[in-house]
Amino acid sequence: MPCAVSEESTAVLQAEGLCKSFSYEGGSIRVLDDVGFSLDSGCSVSVRGESGCGKTTLLNLLARLETADSGSMSWHRESLDPRTMPTAREASMRASFLGVVYQAYYLIPELNAIENVMVAARIAGTVDAETLDRARDLLARVGMEGRDLQLPTKMSGGERQRLAIARALLNRPRVILADEPTGNLDEKTAGSVMDLLLEACREEEASLVLVTHNLAFAQATDEALCLTKGSLGPA
Ligand SMILES: Nc1ncnc2c1ncn2[C@@H]1O[C@H](COP(=O)(O)OP(=O)(O)O)[C@@H](O)[C@H]1O
Ligand SMILES: [Mg+2]
Repeated sequence: MPCAVSEESTAVLQAEGLCKSFSYEGGSIRVLDDVGFSLDSGCSVSVRGESGCGKTTLLNLLARLETADSGSMSWHRESLDPRTMPTAREASMRASFLGVVYQAYYLIPELNAIENVMVAARIAGTVDAETLDRARDLLARVGMEGRDLQLPTKMSGGERQRLAIARALLNRPRVILADEPTGNLDEKTAGSVMDLLLEACREEEASLVLVTHNLAFAQATDEALCLTKGSLGPA
């Protein structure tokens, strides 16, 4: 489904005036300076920028894994205070609102493929037969059919990331945050994982925030942004 840019579009993820500094001995660094962000339902946006410019920090603020110094934000229609850590209710909401895909996969090495996908359901408190069926369907969807019992330690990087994408999608999130998801993969594998991520998000009607250094991947999203000197703007 193409990105629906119409008056009926609803922002699923919005932020205004986000500022974030980190202090260290002898000084502080302002990483985000008055950053505004808006992502519509079913749309994708990419964020590029030099290493250390604050891309992961921005994702962490949007996911409420980190607090901002100032600003405002909302998840779908729910206003949240980015200066505070999430309440228990917000943390539980996050489990179904957001899916996250990281460069380093963050799979649990002792758990097999299907168990790793089901971790998302455990966190959301929705472990049942229907969710298990969906986990199996998603494994097939990411090209890992019949691999339910395999440990991630026995998988290639591309397979691990496919598994991580299935886990991120399990709870039917409104938004996927992907932080350099192909950063550890060779060029060919990166291309097929990116195709899968973009296609799966479209099929699942999940909006996507993609942090990447790859220009072609960045341009494959509906909107390409760049983070420079604390400001987020068109690439
Ligand atoms: N928890 C932290 N404490 C202190 N400095 C941090 C912390 N997290 C990130 N930084 C600093 O903030 C800047 C942005 O980091 P990051 O968001 O990881 O950048 P990027 O993802 O664009 O590479 C870097 O200078 C980094 O050292
Ligand atoms: Mg980063």
